[in-house]
Amino acid sequence: MAIVSSITNHSPLPNDKGEERLVSSNLLKDELKLSKQDSLRPKSFDEFVGQAELKKVLEISVKASVKRGEALDHLMLYGPPGLGKTTMALVISEELGVKARMTSAPALERPRDIVGLLINMQPRELIFVDEIHRLNRISQELLYPAMEDRRLDLTVGKGTSSRMRSIELPPFTLVGATTKPAALSSPMRDRFGITQRLDFYTYSDLQNIIKRSANLINLSITEEASQQLARRSRGTPRIANRLIRRVRDYAEVHSSSNIIDVQVVKDALDLHRVDQRGLDATDRSYLGLLVNQYQGGPVGLETLAAALGEDPTTLETVVEPYLMQIGFLQRTARGRVVTPAAEKYYLLSSPNKIC
Ligand SMILES: Nc1ncnc2c1ncn2[C@@H]1O[C@H](COP(=O)(O)OP(=O)(O)OP(=O)(O)O)[C@@H](O)[C@H]1O
Ligand SMILES: [Mg+2]
Repeated sequence: MAIVSSITNHSPLPNDKGEERLVSSNLLKDELKLSKQDSLRPKSFDEFVGQAELKKVLEISVKASVKRGEALDHLMLYGPPGLGKTTMALVISEELGVKARMTSAPALERPRDIVGLLINMQPRELIFVDEIHRLNRISQELLYPAMEDRRLDLTVGKGTSSRMRSIELPPFTLVGATTKPAALSSPMRDRFGITQRLDFYTYSDLQNIIKRSANLINLSITEEASQQLARRSRGTPRIANRLIRRVRDYAEVHSSSNIIDVQVVKDALDLHRVDQRGLDATDRSYLGLLVNQYQGGPVGLETLAAALGEDPTTLETVVEPYLMQIGFLQRTARGRVVTPAAEKYYLLSSPNKIC
């Protein structure tokens, strides 16, 4: 179905030195344009790989609401960047057979932004609000009655002559997405009938995503090469798709064969210094500091950030979640601690030849 507006605002989150990381789960600058007409995006539940439980729950709700001819309940999707929140919202609008209005909280600062979003909706339409935890109080208060009672309460006029006017809205579905569910106000959280979390993908799901994407961009890839790429994708489809593009670039210049094999993957990702677990130079500096200078920790986040010349928030939201996910890092009350597995991995894999 058509996407009627797309004013989603993503920040690519470069590191403090202004460089963008190949393995960042956020959109990079040159991907921002691409993301609006992302040809690799699954368009149906069948094409959406992995997240079996979430898919099952949503498929049932979507089918039931289509059968009843009603709008789907308001839905909250949360989880780390690049796992498919926006993609799933678009799949749902396709499956419901309705339009999707795409926006994000920073574009909804003034009451008139909310009015513009909700006015002239067709019944059962889907409204997607990205980064919903960033909505300000005024916008949230306008959305509450809209979500609950399908009513837009507006104040018309100024001073003593001001009056309240209510506009009735057709039934609609608000899909909110956030990477920070804890930052959501509790009245907002309560207004979602369905709340679902997206998890990091398994290697086998990522391998299927890689094969599907390779097929869509007319790239032949061996089984072993797709396995290698999956292991380096940090559990994240966005990174998997990005690595395929970099490997394709490398192969076009350096390979005589038109089949991507495991050697091409290794050579291409060595060049970009993405190692066999998907760790890059930033991750390695982080682990190296903990292992070499602090005997594995515990060390406070601020100390690590100062020593690395990075912003603490970048470390906390971009670097640490994946290290924790693969069992390399623990956050304790006394500070960050590396696990024995991380220490072994760091010491065994040399920084230059990281494959
Ligand atoms: N289940 C999936 N199967 C295949 N490809 C996927 C899947 N999920 C996501 N992708 C691909 O990964 C990319 C990133 O997905 P998406 O933009 O939906 O992530 P997101 O969770 O909305 O990220 P952000 O938090 O940064 O907004 C998309 O380009 C899409 O093509
Ligand atoms: Mg998104």
